[in-house]
Amino acid sequence: MDKLIITGNGPLDGEVWASGAKNAALPILCATLLSEGPVTIGNLPHLQDITTTLELLGRMGVEPVLGERMTIQLDGAQVKDCHAPYELVKKMRASILVLGPLLAHFGTADVSLPGGCAIGSRPVDLHLRGLEAMGAEISVENGYVRARVPGGRLKGAHVFFDTVTVTGTENLLMAASLAAGTTVLENAAREPEIVDLADCLIKMGANISGHGTDTITVVGVERLHGCEYDVMPDRIETGTFLVAAAMTGGRVRVRKTRADILEAVLAKLEEAGASITTGADWIEADMQGKRPRAVNIRTAPYPAFPTDMQAQFVALNAVAQGTARVVETIFENRFMHVQELNRMGANIALEGNTAVITGVEQLSGAPVMATDLRASASLVVAATIARGETLVDRIYHIDRGYECIEEKLQLLGAKIRRVPG
Ligand code: EPZ
Repeated sequence: MDKLIITGNGPLDGEVWASGAKNAALPILCATLLSEGPVTIGNLPHLQDITTTLELLGRMGVEPVLGERMTIQLDGAQVKDCHAPYELVKKMRASILVLGPLLAHFGTADVSLPGGCAIGSRPVDLHLRGLEAMGAEISVENGYVRARVPGGRLKGAHVFFDTVTVTGTENLLMAASLAAGTTVLENAAREPEIVDLADCLIKMGANISGHGTDTITVVGVERLHGCEYDVMPDRIETGTFLVAAAMTGGRVRVRKTRADILEAVLAKLEEAGASITTGADWIEADMQGKRPRAVNIRTAPYPAFPTDMQAQFVALNAVAQGTARVVETIFENRFMHVQELNRMGANIALEGNTAVITGVEQLSGAPVMATDLRASASLVVAATIARGETLVDRIYHIDRGYECIEEKLQLLGAKIRRVPG
């Protein structure tokens, strides 16, 4: 297993670009199952999860065609087998996003039920209940969701989500696009990645309104066609590099990104003492050599502070001036990075869903273990400011969501290299 070796090397300084957003690319790739014609997708990040999704679509009969500008062309009309096998779903729980499109386009789907994951139990009951409200008959047998649509076509429904769910909203949004009649999704998630998916579906011919608000209305259409669509920039990757600037007292400009989808994060960076400047497609955080100030954080659904930036801000608070409280309200087990940061000399105590962090002057390098995607990002940024060498193990986690992390950090002056395991 590959590892990363990182030696603290003072303030990070320079420019990097944001890749396409993983959490927009995954549902958009699955949405191609709805099309009757080629969908050409651009700005796709080169990540393990993208590869897994293309493999999943390939198993169903959809052959990816590589185009100019590194685009990928996919045609849902090629589907021959509406089956998502365990060995792929276990690698990536977002595979559940094929369920809605397969049911809506082909009236049948067998999808392995995602298991729990490091950050929480993460059930998909709201996905299944919503699809049942649209007329699907669903059973869970032998670890698989077996779903059928008597009569072959889903019908519009009024769905209220008990809990705000990102992929639940995405699954029903895709299903409703080809359903007979109107669907209203209430208490829907408002994440920018959902707006990106809806914009792509609209280019395929869908009739959607209210995306980006907590009430989305979809008037189903008979069929969806091909289109060309570029995936939005990754706001979490962008935020991670800006936190690295703030932690190291440096100055980092992230290009090919958007400030309007990062308001909660940028506000917290300013509170920590960073000077934030933005342009049409760039954001710069400049700490002017200062030590960050401790900032309190409470995660919640968009537009509030994203849970996917929580671990990075725990790391920032670990070297900040003062004491901070970080409250995680979305996932029940998303503090696995805390003990690893304490191994690097941080002073963090856990009280239920709250991390109480007393900033220290200096972290020290140590061998640490990545446990999930964002936890691994927090260990990597912490290592860029720690005295001495840090060895980060199990970095397959970070490869799932960060494209060329070491090359990009090297551009900012970090001393980081990958060693094959
Ligand atoms: C998406 O996961 C993201 N993944 C996650 O990013 C992100 O952390 C999460 O949204 C929250 O923003 C993708 O987009 C691929 P949820 P998702 O359904 O959709 C409960 C990363 O680091 N729930 O919004 O799986 C659930 O247990 C990843 O890139 C139910 O109870 O998250 C959780 O407590 C990690 N029943 C809460 O809702 C359901 O049917 C929110 O989860 C669905 C969800």
